Amino acid sequence: MYEVKKLVKKFGKVEVLKKIDLVVENGEKIVIIGPSGSGKSTLLRCLGRLEKATSGKINFCDKDINKISKTHEIGMVFQSFNLFENLTVLENITLAPIKTKLMNKETAIEKAKDYLKKIKLDDKENAYPADLSGGQKQRVAIIRALMTDPKVILFDEPTSALDREMIEEVLNLMEEVAKSGITMIVVTHELNFAYNFATKIIFMDDGKILESGSPQELFNNPQTERLKEFLKN
Ligand SMILES: Nc1ncnc2c1ncn2[C@@H]1O[C@H](COP(=O)(O)OP(=O)(O)OP(=O)(O)O)[C@@H](O)[C@H]1O
Ligand SMILES: [Mg+2]
Repeated sequence: MYEVKKLVKKFGKVEVLKKIDLVVENGEKIVIIGPSGSGKSTLLRCLGRLEKATSGKINFCDKDINKISKTHEIGMVFQSFNLFENLTVLENITLAPIKTKLMNKETAIEKAKDYLKKIKLDDKENAYPADLSGGQKQRVAIIRALMTDPKVILFDEPTSALDREMIEEVLNLMEEVAKSGITMIVVTHELNFAYNFATKIIFMDDGKILESGSPQELFNNPQTERLKEFLKN
């Protein structure tokens, strides 16, 4: 799905990603962990085409990511939900598929209502984001990302703005979404979730991938002092 080669991202003179190599296979559930400022969000934003590489290459489904036309094939979910506050829940969810002419309005609404029913928020379709709890907002943001049938969803700390009870409901939905076989790449500090969810964990430090492997390998047998230290906290 993704093939990343020697990815470098600089902001001004500061090198934030330092020659990242990464392969993501179809259906993988990748969790990216690492200290603040290590470049996790920047990497995710490059994979989501929100940032352009300074050098190196990212292929998505065997094509240069800068040349893909079907941008709806990459979905994103952010810590701060990024819902449109002036639109209702239903409008938020149906906006992208209608605007990109992926489906007509009726089909989009029907699909959105099905999803809302699945996450038990069908009574909120006409509510505005301000009327929802944080957990509800994030679940709406997740089904919004699913509406265009993306091949991959990128999550940047989807639960770190939430209280404990709400964290669980969002993580449960992510596990539900995972069952469909979709590729997921998740930046999170929820290490218990990561242990059970991930097919592969990536530990980033100072703009590099310091270790990667199965959750068992990384959590039970960390190789670097940096990861050992990180896991202690
Ligand atoms: N738009 C930007 N302009 C300048 N510097 C940036 C920009 N975005 C990120 N950085 C810098 O790049 C480095 C990596 O940031 P990034 O947000 O990718 O880290 P992170 O691992 O996601 O951290 P956190 O866990 O705090 O979210 C930081 O030093 C940050 O200050
Ligand atoms: Mg970040």
